[in-house]
Amino acid sequence: AVQRATTRLRWRPEQTGTGAHADRTAREIDEQADHAAELVRTWVPSVRSGRVWDQLALPVPERVRFLACGSSRHAAEVGARVLRRLAGTPCEVTVASEHDPADQVPGELTVAVSQSGETADVLRALDALPGPLLAVTNSPTSSLARRADAVFDLGVGPELGVAATKTFTAQVLAGVFLALSSAVARGRLPRSSTAELLDELSATPEALHRAGRLALHRADELAERLAPQPGFLFVARGAALPYAAEGALKLEELTYRWAQCHPAGEFKHGPLALVEPGTPVVVVEDGAAALDTIVHEVSARGADVLRVGWGEGCAFGVLDRPEPHAWGPLESIAALQHLARTLAARLGRDVDRPRNLAKSVTVV
Ligand code: M6R
Repeated sequence: AVQRATTRLRWRPEQTGTGAHADRTAREIDEQADHAAELVRTWVPSVRSGRVWDQLALPVPERVRFLACGSSRHAAEVGARVLRRLAGTPCEVTVASEHDPADQVPGELTVAVSQSGETADVLRALDALPGPLLAVTNSPTSSLARRADAVFDLGVGPELGVAATKTFTAQVLAGVFLALSSAVARGRLPRSSTAELLDELSATPEALHRAGRLALHRADELAERLAPQPGFLFVARGAALPYAAEGALKLEELTYRWAQCHPAGEFKHGPLALVEPGTPVVVVEDGAAALDTIVHEVSARGADVLRVGWGEGCAFGVLDRPEPHAWGPLESIAALQHLARTLAARLGRDVDRPRNLAKSVTVV
Protein backbone atom coordinates (compact mmCIF):
# COMPACT_ATOMS: atom_id res chain seq x y z
CA ALA A 1 0.00 0.00 0.00
CA VAL A 2 1.37 3.40 -0.98
CA GLN A 3 -0.35 6.42 0.45
CA ARG A 4 0.49 9.89 -0.67
CA ALA A 5 -0.51 13.52 -0.63
CA THR A 6 -1.68 14.11 -4.16
CA THR A 7 -1.15 17.77 -5.01
CA ARG A 8 2.35 18.85 -6.00
CA LEU A 9 3.09 22.41 -4.95
CA ARG A 10 5.38 24.90 -6.60
CA TRP A 11 7.48 27.52 -4.92
CA ARG A 12 6.00 30.97 -5.35
CA PRO A 13 8.64 33.66 -4.89
CA GLU A 14 6.10 36.38 -4.23
CA GLN A 15 4.94 34.50 -1.13
CA THR A 16 8.35 34.27 0.44
CA GLY A 17 10.95 36.58 1.73
CA THR A 18 13.95 34.89 0.18
CA GLY A 19 13.82 36.40 -3.30
CA ALA A 20 13.79 34.83 -6.74
CA HIS A 21 17.54 34.13 -6.75
CA ALA A 22 17.75 32.43 -3.39
CA ASP A 23 19.53 29.11 -3.07
CA ARG A 24 17.45 25.95 -3.25
CA THR A 25 17.77 25.43 0.47
CA ALA A 26 16.15 28.78 1.22
CA ARG A 27 13.32 27.97 -1.17
CA GLU A 28 12.84 24.53 0.34
CA ILE A 29 12.67 26.02 3.83
CA ASP A 30 10.03 28.42 2.54
CA GLU A 31 8.05 25.73 0.75
CA GLN A 32 7.61 23.61 3.81
CA ALA A 33 4.60 25.45 5.21
CA ASP A 34 2.69 24.84 1.94
CA HIS A 35 3.63 21.18 1.95
CA ALA A 36 2.61 20.91 5.59
CA ALA A 37 -0.78 22.37 4.63
CA GLU A 38 -1.18 19.76 1.91
CA LEU A 39 -0.22 16.93 4.27
CA VAL A 40 -2.64 18.18 6.90
CA ARG A 41 -5.43 18.44 4.32
CA THR A 42 -4.76 14.94 3.07
CA TRP A 43 -4.27 13.08 6.34
CA VAL A 44 -6.17 14.80 9.14
CA PRO A 45 -9.56 13.30 8.17
CA SER A 46 -8.04 9.79 8.46
CA VAL A 47 -6.34 10.68 11.74
CA ARG A 48 -9.69 11.90 13.09
CA SER A 49 -11.29 8.53 12.40
CA GLY A 50 -8.21 6.57 13.49
CA ARG A 51 -7.91 5.02 10.03
CA VAL A 52 -4.41 5.99 8.92
CA TRP A 53 -3.16 2.44 9.54
CA ASP A 54 -6.12 1.00 7.62
CA GLN A 55 -5.20 3.21 4.69
CA LEU A 56 -1.70 1.81 4.79
CA ALA A 57 -3.17 -1.71 4.97
CA LEU A 58 -1.35 -2.36 8.25
CA PRO A 59 -2.81 -3.28 11.65
CA VAL A 60 -2.47 -0.70 14.43
CA PRO A 61 0.94 -1.69 15.83
CA GLU A 62 1.42 -3.03 19.33
CA ARG A 63 5.06 -2.06 19.36
CA VAL A 64 7.21 0.08 17.04
CA ARG A 65 10.89 0.48 16.24
CA PHE A 66 11.90 3.51 14.19
CA LEU A 67 15.09 3.19 12.14
CA ALA A 68 16.66 6.34 10.72
CA CYS A 69 19.77 8.51 10.41
CA GLY A 70 20.54 12.20 10.75
CA SER A 71 17.62 14.57 10.35
CA SER A 72 15.26 11.68 9.71
CA ARG A 73 16.17 10.29 13.12
CA HIS A 74 15.35 13.59 14.79
CA ALA A 75 11.97 13.58 13.04
CA ALA A 76 11.37 9.99 14.17
CA GLU A 77 11.99 11.02 17.78
CA VAL A 78 8.95 13.31 17.61
CA GLY A 79 6.62 10.59 16.32
CA ALA A 80 7.97 8.10 18.86
CA ARG A 81 7.32 10.44 21.74
CA VAL A 82 3.72 11.09 20.67
CA LEU A 83 3.19 7.38 20.10
CA ARG A 84 4.42 6.57 23.61
CA ARG A 85 2.61 9.42 25.36
CA LEU A 86 -0.75 9.50 23.60
CA ALA A 87 -1.19 6.03 22.17
CA GLY A 88 0.64 4.19 24.95
CA THR A 89 2.53 2.21 22.30
CA PRO A 90 5.97 1.01 23.38
CA CYS A 91 8.52 2.19 20.84
CA GLU A 92 12.11 3.11 20.37
CA VAL A 93 14.21 5.00 17.88
CA THR A 94 17.34 3.24 16.68
CA VAL A 95 20.22 4.95 14.88
CA ALA A 96 20.24 2.77 11.77
CA SER A 97 24.02 2.37 11.74
CA GLU A 98 23.89 1.10 15.34
CA HIS A 99 21.07 -1.33 14.76
CA ASP A 100 21.66 -4.73 16.33
CA PRO A 101 19.29 -7.54 15.27
CA ALA A 102 19.61 -8.91 18.82
CA ASP A 103 17.56 -5.92 20.06
CA GLN A 104 14.60 -6.70 17.80
CA VAL A 105 11.38 -7.78 19.43
CA PRO A 106 9.21 -10.41 17.70
CA GLY A 107 6.16 -8.90 16.05
CA GLU A 108 7.26 -5.27 16.33
CA LEU A 109 6.54 -2.98 13.38
CA THR A 110 9.66 -1.41 11.93
CA VAL A 111 9.16 2.13 10.65
CA ALA A 112 12.13 3.14 8.50
CA VAL A 113 12.23 6.91 8.05
CA SER A 114 14.37 8.03 5.13
CA GLN A 115 13.62 10.86 2.74
CA SER A 116 15.76 9.33 -0.02
CA GLY A 117 14.94 5.73 0.74
CA GLU A 118 18.48 4.91 -0.34
CA THR A 119 20.45 5.39 2.87
CA ALA A 120 22.72 2.36 3.12
CA ASP A 121 22.72 2.24 6.92
CA VAL A 122 18.92 2.02 6.89
CA LEU A 123 18.79 -0.59 4.13
CA ARG A 124 21.39 -2.74 5.84
CA ALA A 125 19.44 -2.68 9.09
CA LEU A 126 16.44 -4.23 7.31
CA ASP A 127 17.92 -7.73 7.12
CA ALA A 128 15.92 -10.25 9.11
CA LEU A 129 13.18 -7.99 10.43
CA PRO A 130 10.94 -9.59 13.08
CA GLY A 131 7.70 -8.17 11.63
CA PRO A 132 6.29 -5.87 8.94
CA LEU A 133 8.07 -2.81 7.55
CA LEU A 134 6.59 0.63 6.95
CA ALA A 135 8.66 3.08 4.89
CA VAL A 136 8.20 6.79 5.51
CA THR A 137 9.92 8.31 2.52
CA ASN A 138 9.87 11.05 -0.08
CA SER A 139 10.76 8.53 -2.77
CA PRO A 140 8.07 5.89 -3.31
CA THR A 141 10.18 4.13 -5.95
CA SER A 142 13.28 3.90 -3.74
CA SER A 143 15.00 0.70 -2.59
CA LEU A 144 13.44 1.20 0.83
CA ALA A 145 9.93 1.60 -0.57
CA ARG A 146 10.34 -1.53 -2.69
CA ARG A 147 11.33 -3.53 0.38
CA ALA A 148 8.47 -2.25 2.54
CA ASP A 149 5.05 -3.76 3.20
CA ALA A 150 3.56 -0.26 3.15
CA VAL A 151 4.77 3.21 2.17
CA PHE A 152 3.87 6.59 3.62
CA ASP A 153 4.81 8.84 0.71
CA LEU A 154 5.71 12.30 2.00
CA GLY A 155 5.05 13.73 -1.47
CA VAL A 156 6.84 17.05 -0.94
CA GLY A 157 8.62 17.00 -4.30
CA PRO A 158 12.37 16.76 -4.89
CA GLU A 159 14.57 18.21 -2.18
CA LEU A 160 17.73 19.38 -3.95
CA GLY A 161 19.60 21.05 -1.11
CA VAL A 162 21.77 18.52 0.72
CA ALA A 163 20.33 19.76 4.00
CA ALA A 164 17.03 18.13 4.84
CA THR A 165 14.49 20.88 5.46
CA LYS A 166 11.00 20.38 4.04
CA THR A 167 11.38 16.60 4.26
CA PHE A 168 12.17 16.90 7.98
CA THR A 169 8.93 18.77 8.61
CA ALA A 170 6.95 16.29 6.51
CA GLN A 171 8.50 13.37 8.39
CA VAL A 172 7.55 14.95 11.70
CA LEU A 173 3.96 15.34 10.53
CA ALA A 174 3.85 11.77 9.21
CA GLY A 175 4.99 10.48 12.60
CA VAL A 176 2.40 12.60 14.39
CA PHE A 177 -0.37 11.37 12.06
CA LEU A 178 0.60 7.75 12.69
CA ALA A 179 0.81 8.29 16.44
CA LEU A 180 -2.47 10.17 16.78
CA SER A 181 -4.25 7.66 14.59
CA SER A 182 -2.99 4.89 16.89
CA ALA A 183 -4.25 6.82 19.90
CA VAL A 184 -7.70 7.26 18.35
CA ALA A 185 -7.91 3.66 17.13
CA ARG A 186 -6.91 2.33 20.55
CA GLY A 187 -9.52 4.48 22.27
CA ARG A 188 -6.87 6.40 24.20
CA LEU A 189 -8.23 9.85 23.36
CA PRO A 190 -11.64 11.23 24.29
CA ARG A 191 -13.39 12.79 21.29
CA SER A 192 -12.97 16.31 22.68
CA SER A 193 -9.19 15.90 23.07
CA THR A 194 -8.95 14.52 19.55
CA ALA A 195 -10.80 17.54 18.19
CA GLU A 196 -8.54 19.90 20.10
CA LEU A 197 -5.36 18.13 19.00
CA LEU A 198 -6.46 18.13 15.39
CA ASP A 199 -7.28 21.82 15.53
CA GLU A 200 -3.77 22.44 16.83
CA LEU A 201 -2.30 20.20 14.16
CA SER A 202 -4.26 21.97 11.45
CA ALA A 203 -2.79 25.27 12.63
CA THR A 204 0.82 24.11 12.19
CA PRO A 205 1.23 25.12 8.51
CA GLU A 206 0.28 28.70 9.32
CA ALA A 207 2.55 28.64 12.37
CA LEU A 208 5.44 27.41 10.20
CA HIS A 209 4.76 30.13 7.69
CA ARG A 210 4.67 32.82 10.36
CA ALA A 211 7.82 31.50 12.03
CA GLY A 212 9.64 31.50 8.70
CA ARG A 213 8.68 35.12 8.03
CA LEU A 214 9.74 36.19 11.46
CA ALA A 215 13.03 34.35 11.19
CA LEU A 216 13.86 35.94 7.86
CA HIS A 217 13.22 39.32 9.37
CA ARG A 218 15.90 38.79 12.03
CA ALA A 219 18.29 36.29 10.46
CA ASP A 220 20.65 38.72 8.68
CA GLU A 221 21.26 40.80 11.76
CA LEU A 222 21.86 37.70 13.90
CA ALA A 223 24.12 36.11 11.28
CA GLU A 224 26.26 39.26 11.33
CA ARG A 225 26.54 39.06 15.11
CA LEU A 226 27.27 35.32 15.16
CA ALA A 227 29.66 35.11 12.22
CA PRO A 228 32.85 35.32 14.34
CA GLN A 229 31.76 32.55 16.72
CA PRO A 230 33.55 29.20 16.32
CA GLY A 231 30.99 27.06 18.14
CA PHE A 232 27.40 26.93 19.29
CA LEU A 233 25.45 25.22 22.04
CA PHE A 234 21.80 24.24 21.71
CA VAL A 235 19.63 23.46 24.70
CA ALA A 236 16.05 22.25 25.18
CA ARG A 237 13.96 19.87 27.22
CA GLY A 238 11.42 17.14 26.51
CA ALA A 239 9.45 17.52 23.32
CA ALA A 240 11.62 20.43 22.14
CA LEU A 241 14.82 18.37 22.15
CA PRO A 242 14.53 16.80 18.68
CA TYR A 243 14.10 20.27 17.18
CA ALA A 244 17.10 21.65 19.04
CA ALA A 245 19.15 18.65 17.91
CA GLU A 246 18.01 19.22 14.35
CA GLY A 247 18.86 22.94 14.60
CA ALA A 248 22.38 22.05 15.76
CA LEU A 249 22.84 19.50 12.96
CA LYS A 250 21.66 22.04 10.39
CA LEU A 251 24.06 24.65 11.72
CA GLU A 252 27.05 22.28 11.60
CA GLU A 253 26.18 20.96 8.18
CA LEU A 254 25.69 24.35 6.54
CA THR A 255 28.15 26.62 8.37
CA TYR A 256 30.97 24.16 9.28
CA ARG A 257 30.88 25.49 12.84
CA TRP A 258 30.64 23.18 15.83
CA ALA A 259 27.23 22.84 17.37
CA GLN A 260 26.32 20.63 20.30
CA CYS A 261 22.85 19.99 21.63
CA HIS A 262 22.19 18.91 25.22
CA PRO A 263 19.14 18.55 27.44
CA ALA A 264 19.02 21.53 29.81
CA GLY A 265 19.69 19.42 32.89
CA GLU A 266 22.85 17.94 31.36
CA PHE A 267 24.67 21.26 31.09
CA LYS A 268 25.85 21.20 34.68
CA HIS A 269 27.30 17.72 34.08
CA GLY A 270 29.89 18.95 31.59
CA PRO A 271 28.93 21.24 28.69
CA LEU A 272 28.74 24.30 30.96
CA ALA A 273 32.55 24.32 30.88
CA LEU A 274 32.37 25.32 27.21
CA VAL A 275 30.51 28.54 27.92
CA GLU A 276 32.57 31.71 27.85
CA PRO A 277 31.72 35.34 27.15
CA GLY A 278 30.04 35.51 23.73
CA THR A 279 29.37 31.76 23.32
CA PRO A 280 26.05 31.48 21.45
CA VAL A 281 23.54 29.33 23.33
CA VAL A 282 20.39 28.65 21.35
CA VAL A 283 17.54 27.88 23.74
CA VAL A 284 14.65 26.05 22.05
CA GLU A 285 11.58 26.49 24.21
CA ASP A 286 8.41 24.47 24.31
CA GLY A 287 5.71 27.01 25.06
CA ALA A 288 6.37 28.68 28.35
CA ALA A 289 8.01 25.57 29.89
CA ALA A 290 10.69 26.99 32.13
CA LEU A 291 14.28 26.95 30.95
CA ASP A 292 15.03 29.84 33.31
CA THR A 293 17.70 28.01 35.27
CA ILE A 294 19.85 27.21 32.26
CA VAL A 295 19.33 30.67 30.79
CA HIS A 296 20.43 32.15 34.10
CA GLU A 297 23.45 29.82 34.35
CA VAL A 298 24.80 30.53 30.87
CA SER A 299 23.94 34.24 31.00
CA ALA A 300 25.91 34.58 34.23
CA ARG A 301 28.93 33.30 32.27
CA GLY A 302 28.47 35.84 29.48
CA ALA A 303 26.79 33.58 26.89
CA ASP A 304 24.98 35.13 23.95
CA VAL A 305 21.56 33.61 24.63
CA LEU A 306 19.23 33.24 21.64
CA ARG A 307 15.78 32.14 22.78
CA VAL A 308 13.54 30.54 20.19
CA GLY A 309 10.15 30.41 21.79
CA TRP A 310 7.39 32.35 23.40
CA GLY A 311 7.10 35.71 25.09
CA GLU A 312 9.37 38.67 25.66
CA GLY A 313 13.05 38.74 24.90
CA CYS A 314 13.18 36.02 22.25
CA ALA A 315 15.62 36.19 19.35
CA PHE A 316 12.87 34.36 17.45
CA GLY A 317 9.44 34.65 19.11
CA VAL A 318 7.99 31.93 16.93
CA LEU A 319 5.44 30.48 19.35
CA ASP A 320 2.08 32.19 19.63
CA ARG A 321 1.01 30.30 22.74
CA PRO A 322 2.39 29.49 26.17
CA GLU A 323 1.08 25.87 26.16
CA PRO A 324 3.14 23.11 24.59
CA HIS A 325 1.83 20.79 21.89
CA ALA A 326 2.17 17.01 22.17
CA TRP A 327 4.60 17.12 19.22
CA GLY A 328 6.61 20.01 20.62
CA PRO A 329 7.47 23.33 18.97
CA LEU A 330 7.50 22.24 15.31
CA GLU A 331 7.45 25.84 14.07
CA SER A 332 10.77 26.55 15.78
CA ILE A 333 12.46 24.50 13.04
CA ALA A 334 11.72 27.21 10.47
CA ALA A 335 13.70 29.70 12.57
CA LEU A 336 16.54 27.27 13.24
CA GLN A 337 16.83 26.36 9.55
CA HIS A 338 16.82 30.01 8.47
CA LEU A 339 19.42 30.86 11.09
CA ALA A 340 21.76 28.11 9.87
CA ARG A 341 21.18 28.90 6.21
CA THR A 342 21.63 32.68 6.62
CA LEU A 343 24.79 32.29 8.68
CA ALA A 344 26.16 29.86 6.09
CA ALA A 345 25.47 32.35 3.30
CA ARG A 346 27.08 35.13 5.38
CA LEU A 347 30.18 32.93 5.78
CA GLY A 348 30.31 32.30 2.03
CA ARG A 349 29.49 28.59 2.24
CA ASP A 350 27.93 26.64 -0.60
CA VAL A 351 24.54 26.39 1.07
CA ASP A 352 23.07 23.81 -1.28
CA ARG A 353 26.14 21.60 -1.41
CA PRO A 354 28.00 21.61 1.89
CA ARG A 355 31.49 20.15 1.74
CA ASN A 356 32.06 16.44 2.44
CA LEU A 357 28.36 15.54 2.36
CA ALA A 358 26.06 13.77 -0.11
CA LYS A 359 22.31 14.02 -0.42
CA SER A 360 21.92 10.25 -0.32
CA VAL A 361 24.46 8.40 1.77
CA THR A 362 24.68 5.12 -0.11
CA VAL A 363 27.73 3.72 1.69
CA VAL A 364 27.86 2.18 5.15
O1 M6R B 1 17.73 10.15 3.02
P1 M6R B 1 17.73 10.03 4.52
O2 M6R B 1 16.59 10.70 5.17
O3 M6R B 1 17.82 8.59 4.95
O4 M6R B 1 19.06 10.73 4.97
C1 M6R B 1 19.51 10.62 6.29
C2 M6R B 1 20.58 11.63 6.57
O5 M6R B 1 21.69 11.39 5.75
C3 M6R B 1 20.09 13.07 6.34
O6 M6R B 1 18.93 13.33 7.07
C4 M6R B 1 21.17 14.07 6.72
O7 M6R B 1 21.37 14.04 8.10
C5 M6R B 1 20.73 15.45 6.25
N1 M6R B 1 21.48 15.85 5.09
C6 M6R B 1 20.88 16.51 7.27
O8 M6R B 1 20.38 17.72 6.78
